[in-house]
Amino acid sequence: MIKLAPSILSANFAELLADCKKAQDAGCEYLHLDVMDGHYVPNITFGPAVIKSLRKDIDMVFDAHLMITDPDAYMDALADAGCDIVTVHQEACTHLHRTIQNIKSHGMKAGVVLNPATPVETIKHVLCDVDMVLLMSVNPGFGGQAFIPETINKIKELKSMIDERGLEIDIEVDGGVKASNIKEVVDAGANIIVGGSSIFGHDDINKAVEDLRNAAQGK
Ligand code: DX5
Ligand code: ZN
Repeated sequence: MIKLAPSILSANFAELLADCKKAQDAGCEYLHLDVMDGHYVPNITFGPAVIKSLRKDIDMVFDAHLMITDPDAYMDALADAGCDIVTVHQEACTHLHRTIQNIKSHGMKAGVVLNPATPVETIKHVLCDVDMVLLMSVNPGFGGQAFIPETINKIKELKSMIDERGLEIDIEVDGGVKASNIKEVVDAGANIIVGGSSIFGHDDINKAVEDLRNAAQGK
């Protein structure tokens, strides 16, 4: 069974809590929180204060995707905000192993993110330390971009690497996933699917979620 992770980057920020409640009521399991600092990526979004204010009224798994240059500096604040999972970019962390341990020492699950051009081999030696790997299927920074097709091979490669070692690690895919390509993404081995424009970009969120789940099952 796949899990859907609506990305609030495509929500209406003036109606943020109401939009999150709609995604929760539609049965989405994760809330994908894209934290951007304008340095690691050319966009600025929100930080721990906004996450904390949503936490009071939302019961979904809070999945914080950090697109920032110094993730360790914000770990206390993210834990205090109520994040359940924190993912950091392999490309942004000089001491990735240390940062993963830092996330876990704050009582949160740890994940690592790979940009489209970064090979899965680069995380081979930290795979046993993470709960989730997030594969970017677009270059990070903006919602609504087109899915990069090579991601499918990358998901398969990562899935084999995880299975060969008998590990239990979630594979999340982020960027450009919609009803027309979700089945391919899931069949390749992903089990957590981020949807920004494919969920919050629709007026009827229930219908958007139903369409994605049906498409994932080939219906
Ligand atoms: C991009 C973000 C994504 C984005 C996905 O940097 O990490 O989570 O919101 O949006 P869609 O699904 O519209 O590509
Ligand atoms: Zn994201």
